[in-house]
Amino acid sequence: MKPSATPLQPGATLGMIGGGQLGRYFVIAARKLGYEVAVLDPAANAPAMQLASHKVVAAYDDAEALQRMAELCDVVTIEFENVPYQGLARLAERVPVAPSPECARIAQDRRLEKNTALSFGLTPAPFAAIESDDDIAAAVATTGLPAIIKTATLGYDGKGQVVCEDEAAVRQAFESLNGVACVLEQRIQLDKEVSVVLCRGFDGQVACFPVGENVHVNGVLDLSTVPASVDESLKQQVIEQAVKLAQGIDYVGVLGLEFFIDTQGRVFFNEMAPRPHNSGHYTLDATVTCQFEQQVRMVCGLASGSTELLTPVTMLNVLGDSWFPEAPDWAKVLAEPCARLHLYGKAEARSGRKMGHINCLSDSAESALALAERSRQLLNPR
Ligand SMILES: Nc1ncnc2c1ncn2[C@@H]1O[C@H](COP(=O)(O)OP(=O)(O)OP(=O)(O)O)[C@@H](O)[C@H]1O
Ligand SMILES: [Mg+2]
Repeated sequence: MKPSATPLQPGATLGMIGGGQLGRYFVIAARKLGYEVAVLDPAANAPAMQLASHKVVAAYDDAEALQRMAELCDVVTIEFENVPYQGLARLAERVPVAPSPECARIAQDRRLEKNTALSFGLTPAPFAAIESDDDIAAAVATTGLPAIIKTATLGYDGKGQVVCEDEAAVRQAFESLNGVACVLEQRIQLDKEVSVVLCRGFDGQVACFPVGENVHVNGVLDLSTVPASVDESLKQQVIEQAVKLAQGIDYVGVLGLEFFIDTQGRVFFNEMAPRPHNSGHYTLDATVTCQFEQQVRMVCGLASGSTELLTPVTMLNVLGDSWFPEAPDWAKVLAEPCARLHLYGKAEARSGRKMGHINCLSDSAESALALAERSRQLLNPR
């Protein structure tokens, strides 16, 4: 269903499919502006559910629950890309859904995502699909070695990925991934990893947050620093590519895009997230408007807020690992006045689980990074 030509005013009810931390911040941003939010998630105590005005506790593709969302909401959005497509498409017949189910579908499958990016002039790392053993030799010829095999669907935080040094390793990895459809991609010699979060409205207007520089550990985002220490011309390339893709797929909402910069200074598109992005959490404390308020604004048909950076910042992710052998002493973290702690209200800490983050504000990127490293020590003093 098409959105109404006039913006949704505060008081309207917004729908969120997914109850994780991204949904939680959407609820906070929406309620700050006086909107109500209905959240659909199977877990009654999910982070976003805790704060929802309407709790729809059911599977994401439950027909009755989706009907309830259509009745409750003036517009519906998502907080993760793997919302089942069919249900989302049916929902979109009854209520405006932004981003479109088609945009979610693109992000659900690396093959489609990379081919879509290619079609709009972006450059993914050389890649090839592997759907059966017979595809492996040709795929390796396309990508060269070393290469990384990734499941085409349902990967996150580096899960379902194996680095392969030779063709035999690719065969073995494909088998160990149970023969599900995969992509093989060239392993880029990384100089930097960067990302950009943008928002785009129903009217096609785009606003970008500053490019962030990311450090991953074991495939999971560890740190994001803004401003990124990369050439302005590279930042410009990243932003141009991001905008081209958003426009190409007629994206509406907040979109996170990850890029690699290799040791020769070339930019490669990695992937997109049709929602706010972990690397954009710095906007909660360091920009005029945060990425979640932008999501509210975009789905309501409102203008973008300012994306201006107010202060250099490093975001440090807080994973469940910090709870072992004992939970962090939060008082120590909170004693750092410019280390802004966020916890997501998750009942159980598990290794690798994203439990919160700390936005470390300082007067330069270097000192923000140093504060993040100090904060890490405070979390894990052992
Ligand atoms: N082709 C590549 N060359 C070099 N490094 C890579 C490549 N692909 C992935 N990586 C490394 O692995 C990390 C995770 O990869 P990717 O973004 O594909 O994973 P994911 O499971 O979709 O993770 P998430 O959704 O959490 O970002 C990247 O941020 C990068 O550090
Ligand atoms: Mg990624």
